[in-house]
Amino acid sequence: MSRLGNARNWLDERLGWDDLIGPLHKKTVPLHRLSYWYFLGGITLFLFVIQVLTGILLLLYYRPGANEAFESVQYIMTQVQFGWLIRSIHSWSANLMIFTAFAHMFSVLFLKAYRKPRELTWVTGMILLFLVMGFGFSGYLLPWNTSAFFATKVGTEITGQVPILGKPLMVFLRGGEEVTGATLTRFFGFHVAVLPGLATLFIVLHLLLVQRCGISVPPKLELEWSANPSARREMKFFPNFALRELMAWYVALGVLGALAAIFPWNLGVKADPFAPAPAGIKPEWYFLFMFQTLKLIPSKVWLIDGEVLGVLAFGLVALVWVLLPFFESDHPLHMKGWITGFAVFALTYMTGMSLYGYLAK
Ligand code: HEM
Repeated sequence: MSRLGNARNWLDERLGWDDLIGPLHKKTVPLHRLSYWYFLGGITLFLFVIQVLTGILLLLYYRPGANEAFESVQYIMTQVQFGWLIRSIHSWSANLMIFTAFAHMFSVLFLKAYRKPRELTWVTGMILLFLVMGFGFSGYLLPWNTSAFFATKVGTEITGQVPILGKPLMVFLRGGEEVTGATLTRFFGFHVAVLPGLATLFIVLHLLLVQRCGISVPPKLELEWSANPSARREMKFFPNFALRELMAWYVALGVLGALAAIFPWNLGVKADPFAPAPAGIKPEWYFLFMFQTLKLIPSKVWLIDGEVLGVLAFGLVALVWVLLPFFESDHPLHMKGWITGFAVFALTYMTGMSLYGYLAK
């Protein structure tokens, strides 16, 4: 028997290896013209792993503190071998991961993969999306540069607008009334301990649910395949789909490496909390659609503060979004058209408003 075969037997005797990976052998992936959308969840997972690995490397030199954070990042970028590249990969990968998580969510919506029995997969996915945005928000402050400082000031101020809970939440996030070194220490704790712990937990849950429910077939195609079973086409997950997924990761790694090397991530200027806010301060692109909307709402709408109204409206939409599968009929033939309409509207609105926010002064 080959060495590989021996190792396999050794593991099987101790761990029941075949039982462990057995379900992966039984799993299949439906084949149709939109099958490539199934790669997006895996690419998001791959980028998460890159984040963890590069984040650990950055931790070797990064120091959280208003007097040393900026300098430590400067040191990483100028003195540490390949430090600039690791930092650039971490920042680019963060942005790509948020992008692929959004793209994965919209693909799940348009393929109607959130329907019964995948409601909980959707809910855990939405929690992951919020966590991923939390990673972005908390990580942005860590280099302690001017744009990060003022964007955090504005971002936490907006949180403070939520009636009743907003003010205590803002003080909790900032570690006081103002954005200071205490905010930086707190954000560091969220970024390297709380959020990674929660994200790992929810990724495990999400993947267990995906494994439990299998990969969905778009409902229209499922009907066609039920009427004509010989038309059903699928591929084994292991090794056929897994190898293709590996190729997708390889491409993602190529794109990431090229972006990070050709466009190294900037550090900017150290934050000065006593300086006036620079003109035209904007949040990261994934918060821009909300930021721009809040800017456009008049200061008073029917005697209510415009910003408060905007924040409440976004909260309500987010809640409806999380619960979306529960508004869908669970009858296999009945689908609610408004959900797809809502998704098309949301995608158009988010893209349009982000572009407007990007171009606006
Ligand atoms: C860190 C973020 C996320 C990771 C790592 C992740 C990972 C994955 C993976 C590996 C799969 C299986 C392959 C695929 O269908 O793409 C999957 C499926 C799925 N994900 Fe995610 N996901 C994330 C976020 C989300 C979000 C934001 C949603 C939506 C709210 C979501 C909802 C789903 C659903 C419903 C499926 C089942 C798709 C099907 O059966 O066709 N996920 N996810």
